[in-house]
Amino acid sequence: MKHETRAARTLHRWCGLTVGMLLVMVALTGAGMVFRPQLDPLLQPALQHVPACSAPLSTSRLIEAAHAAYPDAGALSAIRMKAVQGDSVAPVRIRFGDWRWVYVDPCTARVLGIRDAYGEVFGTMAWLHTFSYLPGGGVVAGSVALAAIALVVAGFALWALTRSAAPAATKRAGKAAGLNPAARGLRRHRMVALWCAPVLLVLALSGVPQAFPIAAMAVPAPPPLPLSARTDIAAALDAAGSRLERDYAGWRQLQWRVGAAGTSLKLEIVEHGAPHEYATGIAYYDPASGALLQHTSYAQSQSARKAYLWGLALHYGAVGAPWQLAQFAAALAMPFLAWTGMGGWLRRHIAARSNGLQRLVVRDKHHVARDVYAFELVHPRGRRLPAWTAGAHIDVHTAPGLVRQYSLCGDPRDRSRYQIAVHRCTPSRGGSDAMHDAVHAGDRITIGMPRNRFALAPDSPHTVLLAGGIGLTPLLAMAETLSASGASFELHYCTRSPLHAAFSERLHERRFCGRVLFHFSNTVGRAAFDSLLAAPQRGAHLYICGAAGFTDAALAAAERQGWPAAHVHTERFSAPPGPQADSAQAAFDVVIASTGRVVPVAAGQSALAALHGAGVAIPTSCGQGLCGTCVTGVLEGEPDHRDHCLTDEARAVSFTPCCSRARGPQLVLDL
Ligand code: FES
Repeated sequence: MKHETRAARTLHRWCGLTVGMLLVMVALTGAGMVFRPQLDPLLQPALQHVPACSAPLSTSRLIEAAHAAYPDAGALSAIRMKAVQGDSVAPVRIRFGDWRWVYVDPCTARVLGIRDAYGEVFGTMAWLHTFSYLPGGGVVAGSVALAAIALVVAGFALWALTRSAAPAATKRAGKAAGLNPAARGLRRHRMVALWCAPVLLVLALSGVPQAFPIAAMAVPAPPPLPLSARTDIAAALDAAGSRLERDYAGWRQLQWRVGAAGTSLKLEIVEHGAPHEYATGIAYYDPASGALLQHTSYAQSQSARKAYLWGLALHYGAVGAPWQLAQFAAALAMPFLAWTGMGGWLRRHIAARSNGLQRLVVRDKHHVARDVYAFELVHPRGRRLPAWTAGAHIDVHTAPGLVRQYSLCGDPRDRSRYQIAVHRCTPSRGGSDAMHDAVHAGDRITIGMPRNRFALAPDSPHTVLLAGGIGLTPLLAMAETLSASGASFELHYCTRSPLHAAFSERLHERRFCGRVLFHFSNTVGRAAFDSLLAAPQRGAHLYICGAAGFTDAALAAAERQGWPAAHVHTERFSAPPGPQADSAQAAFDVVIASTGRVVPVAAGQSALAALHGAGVAIPTSCGQGLCGTCVTGVLEGEPDHRDHCLTDEARAVSFTPCCSRARGPQLVLDL
């Protein structure tokens, strides 16, 4: 599945990046022409209708008048006519050797005007839309249409593949985003794309055969011409035209095509009962006598030709106003999709370069304990990774919109890779599920720079590391560092059973011999913290990492055993339950120091939510006061600190708006 996902992502991305701007131009010009049938009459009312008459002039007389008005136009190439409607009729349009149409009154032979097919507003849009300004414009237009098909199909496949691989929580979030107009970023891109993709696909599919000559394959071939003594096209058209009503009773519109000398006259005719105005039958006439040689009605046409003609009708919006509106909306969505798609890609790459984010490759993913996977992350081109120290963690962008912190658990001296381990949380907030189910070896993943809020104290005469479950990870890196430096330490690893103990093989290696003790709660009972922490050595430091209950019990034991608070260090991966202070329910104001703007924070609302609601961008990640991502400076007021990451010194000048509040009516933040 991962190969398909990667292939779909690559195809979607490169189609978008290479032809995205051309697609935007094609879409905007297409959107501009959607309502051409309704708007053109308003722009050129004199060329739309003339009074009908009982005896229209002959075709040769109309050609003569058109030629007189436009003598340098070259040889006759096409004539378009529409049937009489009530007491009016459309002017006959006659084209010679260029792209100009001469409009002639069929009753008086008066020339009403001459229009360039690619002139004026709609003509210019058509000129741009079809790349007619380029020598191989048709091929370019067809290639852009093919790229649009690949873009849509790959985008849809990517959505389906990532959705099927996503954990249930992420699927639910994706569904919510799909129905939510307030969705942002990639979710909004997906939401709009899913609604527009069917229409865009139809438009692109129907554009391809117009650009390439494959459409001609389904057109009935002209019959061989009889031997004729003379060729007078105008007279032949008169002869054929005099029989039109008899041959095609109730016809609606037609176009004569006049080819090179010695070829048949071709008639494309929309007969009575045709399902749309592009549902043409094909007839061939003798260019000398005007005799009908062959007629294939629309109903008798091959299925491929009918499909092509339906494609034309859909492409040109000839199937009704609802479809026109859908075309218009889908075409207008293209600039938005290009903006959000390319913008998201650029943002990710610019951010990766400017904000310390890195795209790394998952070189290995393997099981290290029950419900725990270890991931090995390396640079795509094998470069050395930024340095880090034991106790550091990285932000991992586990899925779109999900950022989680994981401690680095490898050896800090090894700059060739980062190693993390992820325990599947139950219930998961989406991060561990995404890492377990949707991230695989070979994938690329975005991470932040290593940060350390749990560093080893220097020159400690002895270090006690107390790990509970997945809390081993930062302590394992500490054990590596302490072992490498020959420092005195002991690591107590508490898990439910040997099956739950991660990295056991590594912990049994020689360098840890005699320094690592396992405590399995279902074989030897819960680790007796009091006995483990009894009689602390003078100057020793204690590091505790585990679930909230484990950490709280260990902290209580350390206090009972007389560990100095300054020598006890913890890192939590979930906020401990705690009593709600009165201030948690109280409203207060946050003042933005740089502007003086006052942002009210309602009771029960976080300061971060209030600031985001006021349009103040503050980076956030854990939302629980664990990671320190949202830390801001505080200049005035008394914060009610509820974080688990700031030291006392840091709390004097800092504030975590994701969880902390104010003890008074106001806080002035250094923003
Ligand atoms: S977002 Fe993690 S501490 Fe605020």
